[in-house]
Amino acid sequence: MAEVVFPPGFLWGAATAGHQVEGDNRNSDWWAWEHKPGSPVAEPSGATCEHFTRYPGDVEMLADAGLNTYRYSVEWSRVEPSEGSFDDEALAHYRRMTQTVVDAGVIPMVTLNHFTVPQWFAARGGWAARDAADVFGRYCERVVRSLGDLVEWWCTINEPGNVAVGGYLGALGWPPGTHRYEDWKRAARGLTQGHRRALAVVKSLHPSSRVGATHGMIEWLPSTAAKPAVEHVRRMFEDAFLDVCGDDDYLGVQTYTRLPVPLPVWLTPLVHAAMAVRPVREQLLPRLIRQATHDFGDGTTPATDGLRRTQMGYEFRPESIAATLRRAASLFPGKDLVVTEHGVATSDDTERVEFIKRGASAVRAAMDEGLPVRGYLYWSLLDNFEWTLGYRPTFGLIGVDRSTQERTVRPSLHVLGDIAKSGRLPV
Ligand code: BGC
Repeated sequence: MAEVVFPPGFLWGAATAGHQVEGDNRNSDWWAWEHKPGSPVAEPSGATCEHFTRYPGDVEMLADAGLNTYRYSVEWSRVEPSEGSFDDEALAHYRRMTQTVVDAGVIPMVTLNHFTVPQWFAARGGWAARDAADVFGRYCERVVRSLGDLVEWWCTINEPGNVAVGGYLGALGWPPGTHRYEDWKRAARGLTQGHRRALAVVKSLHPSSRVGATHGMIEWLPSTAAKPAVEHVRRMFEDAFLDVCGDDDYLGVQTYTRLPVPLPVWLTPLVHAAMAVRPVREQLLPRLIRQATHDFGDGTTPATDGLRRTQMGYEFRPESIAATLRRAASLFPGKDLVVTEHGVATSDDTERVEFIKRGASAVRAAMDEGLPVRGYLYWSLLDNFEWTLGYRPTFGLIGVDRSTQERTVRPSLHVLGDIAKSGRLPV
């Protein structure tokens, strides 16, 4: 049997995020958003996987399977429950958790912000506030002072583009639920400045640490006519945030699928002309993005195009990760790349195994072309709270029965663990 071989020291792991697994994250904007009347969220997050208290067992399962890296986030709303006042017990919790990860022989990769913000931060304008980056930087400093001696790998802000488009441009039904291009612009400024501030904070305290942001990137497949429009859309989701990453130690790439955007060729001159017009870019295009994401639905409507789909409604396309890695590498030649998320929502774990194997092979193929990819982290370690979709999509290498909190290690965890231990993937 043929096999592909990965270099020693490659990061193999799984990822989670605080709000999606910890439970009872009551001071966060998402908690308020889930409970407001008419909320677009399918169901409240509630106790999620109780990872806040059950992390030792979860980390043990990850380590026992052979994974060497765990990416998780610190919840800002726990650490700074009201503006300027920091909770030492919350910081001590994340230190104990990080120590547990280290003691298990696993490399911690810590995300400073994964979508959720404290309610007081949201109330003062969130990322759109003028001084958002200063306020975020002060929180980051506390966290880095508390955990920095244990952590080498840091992610500043998770998928800033999805926050800006999903929440501030109103495309995904996320908080704060504003809609205007101006809101996106202000949030994009706060998020990019926030990233730069976090990078500066970590590097000033621990110069040898490895700092980057994690970017949600899609393999866009526009037809010739659609190209100029897709370039603008991609700018709002991805490029505006990638642009500020030149000083980062690595780029975190997270990709779930590809997206064809077909438009007939005869529209080419029209789309070109339209995209040169500012109101089209700033008003019509955002409206089209909102309409497209709304029409896309929640993955429960059967696809009519015959394509194989995941529970999210995405095309099952593990190889897309290689396409986005190539794009990231073309923007920043030579910069280290880490697959900080790659995963599939499915009720059939054999599909997950296939997704991981095909994804990892595609990553290896990209490395053969010279791309400096340093790791592959699967999303997610546990069946998580999937934002507006609630608990229906299941991503976990470990299944969670939420009525009993019982964990079931799925075969996919062992498959990924075996690749991690041997550095080899039979193909
Ligand atoms: C996010 C995760 C999310 C995952 C699956 C990523 O965009 O970082 O929070 O659960 O995708 O949809």
